[in-house]
Amino acid sequence: MTNIAIIGGSGFDNFTALTDVREHRQVTRFGQPSGFILSGTYAGREIFFLARHGSGHTIPPHKINYRANIAALRELGATEIIAVTAVGGIAASTPPRRIVIPNQIVDYTYGREHTFSDGLDSVVQHIDFTYPFSEPLRDEIIRAAAQISLPIEPTGVYGATQGPRLETAAEISRMAKDGCTIVGMTGMPEASLAREAGLNYVNCSLVVNWAAGVVDGTIEFAAIEQHLKLGMASVQQLIKAWLERHRDPDPKI
Ligand code: HPA
Repeated sequence: MTNIAIIGGSGFDNFTALTDVREHRQVTRFGQPSGFILSGTYAGREIFFLARHGSGHTIPPHKINYRANIAALRELGATEIIAVTAVGGIAASTPPRRIVIPNQIVDYTYGREHTFSDGLDSVVQHIDFTYPFSEPLRDEIIRAAAQISLPIEPTGVYGATQGPRLETAAEISRMAKDGCTIVGMTGMPEASLAREAGLNYVNCSLVVNWAAGVVDGTIEFAAIEQHLKLGMASVQQLIKAWLERHRDPDPKI
């Protein structure tokens, strides 16, 4: 049986579609997750929800306990994760308000606890990460978007930066040369930890600004807020459409 978890990012700190909601306070070997994990019912199945930055959006990207978040979701029985993130757009195909389902990652983060292989148990685990996201889940989400006529960008290269500051124009120019089409602060190490944990993981990114230097001028935070508010409503619609259509490949009933 598959169990789906949503990790919500900036502008997505609740999934109000859930009914019969319960709170789980998990503590893992890696410490506490960002907050309590909700479970509830949608479209006849149990869904988990975790707000990545905490319920009051108080945890900055470099302080998130990514290991505890992934470990706690796995301990609760999650097998598939859809991770929602807000990003800056670098490529012409990723303007503000566009939803992107990236297929690749370049990791520029540093100093984060990025692996479960911490030397405290005996196993050093090497994972294949050629394709960092679950391709079957990406396909399903792209299909769900088409079914509700929601325009999305079906591929993208997520450049993960350290934050919490935004980038300089020169950094974004370098990232564009590296092939990045979007830039965010929380895509890593979340994606590789999910792979280490054996979970199927997909990212759904909402572009909320042009990245630094892509267009003239500086970045306006008021505009970001507006894009977050309107764009995350579309992300919620997309996730609902996907959940309604998601077929359990291995039902236990
Ligand atoms: N850079 C990094 N992270 C972001 C951005 C950005 O421009 N916008 C939203 N998250």
